[in-house]
Amino acid sequence: MDVLLLIGSGLWVMVPALVPNPGAVIFGGGTPVDFGKEWKGERVLGDGKTWRGLIGGICFGVLIGCFQIIGESNYSYLLPGFIGLGAMPTALGAVATLATGSLLGDMGGAFIKRRLGMVRGQKAPVLDQNDSIAGALLLTLLVFPDWTIHTFVSGDAWVSLLAVIIAVPLLHRSVNIIGYKAGLKKEPW
Ligand code: CTP
Ligand code: MG
Repeated sequence: MDVLLLIGSGLWVMVPALVPNPGAVIFGGGTPVDFGKEWKGERVLGDGKTWRGLIGGICFGVLIGCFQIIGESNYSYLLPGFIGLGAMPTALGAVATLATGSLLGDMGGAFIKRRLGMVRGQKAPVLDQNDSIAGALLLTLLVFPDWTIHTFVSGDAWVSLLAVIIAVPLLHRSVNIIGYKAGLKKEPW
């Protein structure tokens, strides 16, 4: 199978997991998810994780994913062999777990950062770039194991996963630099 199709499929499928982060930057603010609570002298998650960001970011990811599913159902005949999000209803379920898992992973990353005594916004290399894709893939694997294996593991699909693992941290960094320069984000990471 064409390697470019596999790379394209991997990145396309991860879009619903990638847009919730910038979505949270745009929609975020207000009440923090941890309601300001502390654990062992540090905030549980910190002021960088808000309900508005969480819900707005997930809805944004699901909305974009719905457009992708519609796009696939209309145009996938143009790319025979393209794996993509696939058919309803699993495609919609996977979009929901990808979007939700990405921001759960992001909160898991913040939880770890606070336990290490790192303040909100402090740079955590590796963790900052990978917590959300790890959360997205893990939750989706738990809820839709067959879909995840079909999309990212079996046959040649591992190439899609490899493309995601290589490209997403680079993409994450680039988008955050753009967000920082545009004045939307406080730090370029
Ligand atoms: N954001 C939000 N709610 C979320 C996730 C993100 O409101 N659930 C918003 C916050 O304004 C946050 C910004 O998006 O500051 C950037 O997110 P991120 O870089 O993940 O947070 P940091 O501020 O760097 O905080 P942390 O150190 O906890 O990662
Ligand atoms: Mg950050």
